Amino acid sequence: MTAAQPQTVRASGARVAVRPLATLTTLRVGGPAEVWEVDDLASARDATAERFLAIGAGSNLLVADAGVTDRVVKLGRGFDDVRSLGAEADLWLGAATPLPGLVRRAQQAGLSGLEGLLGVPAVLGGAVAMNAGTRFGEMSDTLQEVEVLVDGHVERLAAAELKLGYRQARLPEGGLLLRARLALARSTPDRVAAAMRAVDDARKGQPKNKSAGCAFKNPPGDSAGRLIDAAGLKGLRVGDAMISHEHGNFVVNLGSARAADVAALLGLVRERLDVPLEIEWRRWGW
Ligand code: FAD
Ligand code: EPU
Repeated sequence: MTAAQPQTVRASGARVAVRPLATLTTLRVGGPAEVWEVDDLASARDATAERFLAIGAGSNLLVADAGVTDRVVKLGRGFDDVRSLGAEADLWLGAATPLPGLVRRAQQAGLSGLEGLLGVPAVLGGAVAMNAGTRFGEMSDTLQEVEVLVDGHVERLAAAELKLGYRQARLPEGGLLLRARLALARSTPDRVAAAMRAVDDARKGQPKNKSAGCAFKNPPGDSAGRLIDAAGLKGLRVGDAMISHEHGNFVVNLGSARAADVAALLGLVRERLDVPLEIEWRRWGW
């Protein structure tokens, strides 16, 4: 793994350094990229003046061992509004707001609509870009509008324009999501907590190891995890990448997995199944 390089600070305030993307992804694999961290509109404009890839919490990414040549743009604390969630049910939040904190604060405030996202380790921008969710609810349930930086201009788009579907959203080409407006419903902390317990129960069978969540989308009417399990593939391993013993759709990094190991493992799984499975992760550098 390439070591992190010294950081430079641009006149715009953007902080730039070459970093191994393994340090910015939950699966902990992936080679180097020039990472631009931005905390306001001026630095975001500077960072997006050339081709870029936006990164959120890196919880749905498989980055190649060679890394990527495009710059990677990460929104910093200036776009984290987790503390501003109070009693207001309809509000704009920065795209770097961590979902776990948001879900917890909404529950404490007795605001409903985000319960289904309990346990998704994303930031808001990544959750919108993937329309993250579970069978208990997804981002599209509460999303009203977004602000996206495109070609240096901030555009406001209604949620309907993003064509949100199962783990997908259509963002403008070359767009960086800056903020999202959510409309939550008034409830009580107890009722929201009760709804969250069902989601928590559904997650009990998921591994706690380093992973990027489910590797494959579910095929219509079935679960990829169930199919992989039924095919006897749990525990299948390439290097330190392994199909979790707990849930068949999770690839876990046992310590020093490389992206090539993870990709080879996905290939083996697909070869052994009769049902074609579509990869859910965003793959960079392949
Ligand atoms: P990243 O992984 O960093 O990026 C994902 C995509 O979003 C990339 O294409 C990226 O370019 C784009 N993106 C990110 N930020 C921006 C931005 N500001 N502007 C434009 N594009 C952007 N997902 C579910 O849907 N349901 C689950 O139940 C679930 N459970 C999980 C459990 C675990 C333990 C883990 C590790 C993952 C799980 N996931 C789940 C997967 C993952 O958390 C989601 O896909 C999440 O939405 C990814 O958000 P992120 O912030 O990590 O985005
Ligand atoms: N199952 C097995 N063996 C396994 C895994 C699952 O038999 O190894 C069976 C379960 O017993 C259950 C069925 O398959 O009968 C469905 O399993 P589960 O409830 O775990 O749901 P899933 O379809 O595998 C989906 C999402 C998850 C989300 C959960 C909870 C996808 C690809 N996965 O999993 O999302 O957390 O529901 O709602 O849609 C993600 O997208 O990254 C993700 C983790």
